Amino acid sequence: MMNDVYILGIESSCDETSVSIVKNGIEDISTIVLSQMDVHANYGGVVPEIASRMHVENITIVIEECLNKAHMTMDDITAIAVTYGPGLIGSLLVGVVAAQTLSYVYNKPLIPVHHIAGHIYANSLTKEMTFPLIALVVSGGHTELIYMKDNYCFEKIGGTLDDAVGEAYDKIARIIKVPYPGGPLVDKMSYLGGDNYNLPLPLDDNSYNFSFSGLKSAAINLVHNEEQRGNQINKEDLACSFQKRVVDILSKKTLRALKEYNVKNLIVAGGVAANSGIRNRLTQICNDNDINLTIPELKYCTDNATMIASAGYYAYKLGRRTNIDLKAMANTPLN
Ligand code: KG4
Ligand code: ZN
Repeated sequence: MMNDVYILGIESSCDETSVSIVKNGIEDISTIVLSQMDVHANYGGVVPEIASRMHVENITIVIEECLNKAHMTMDDITAIAVTYGPGLIGSLLVGVVAAQTLSYVYNKPLIPVHHIAGHIYANSLTKEMTFPLIALVVSGGHTELIYMKDNYCFEKIGGTLDDAVGEAYDKIARIIKVPYPGGPLVDKMSYLGGDNYNLPLPLDDNSYNFSFSGLKSAAINLVHNEEQRGNQINKEDLACSFQKRVVDILSKKTLRALKEYNVKNLIVAGGVAANSGIRNRLTQICNDNDINLTIPELKYCTDNATMIASAGYYAYKLGRRTNIDLKAMANTPLN
């Protein structure tokens, strides 16, 4: 149809080179995600210089593959959306420059997308978002509760005071010697153990803020103390106790936010939305409290360009454009 909007999205903020074409904000026409995870796993974490270099090598190939897979050319694209931040500056730059170049050469509008807006809009690939809503954003770099009264109205009501939840998962993984990225493996291990370690429920107060460094330190100290006594830690138990505290505090504060803001819609966003403990608990809580819950499909939880193209569509509809001077930003707030 003439009025259909096809957004080409580009995401390169960390260690995934991804390009996607999304129709009308909700339909994934074609997505390519090229992960560098195997390479960075050798170093126990993402090495920024390597990430940037690999994005340079791969970006044009991924753009071409995405168009080919969709049987489309740049002429069929309505506008280009790109993650401008936050993230690794060298990685972001590659995506931004690619998007700027395409926008210039093919004379297409350029739409800047905040990475977290992308994670949030991943939910519209499951079901069109209904407002007002509360978004629980949980990723490697973010842990936030956001109130949205409409499209692109982001009101942060709380966030982490120190570590992001994904970051805490990855650190716990490292001390129990689970390979990078540890989050998904700690999640799996938690089901093989019992809640037998007395870890604290972190920042159990009346705010909507979170703090995971205390919980992380408690777990690290526990491992060290046991090692000094010549004892083996039960990794599965530790994973279980850690995951239980994380899920307890996230779900407790999220439910309180839903009640206090009188909101009936909850969405979950970010890489840690793939966590099965979080998915299960929130499903149960939302059932019990008549809340509509949306969680993206697993493939749209971790970094991908589909979510960027979807967020880009809603930004496009609101008339948001940028010019050729768009700057990549390592740190930039959602508003
Ligand atoms: O959103 P994302 O792909 O990248 C950022 O924007 O940060 O999130 C990656 C984070 C990593 O810390 C990874 O360990 C974590 O999400 N993660 C998980 C799970 N799957 C991914 N953490 C816990 N349980 C999972 N199943
Ligand atoms: Zn992300």
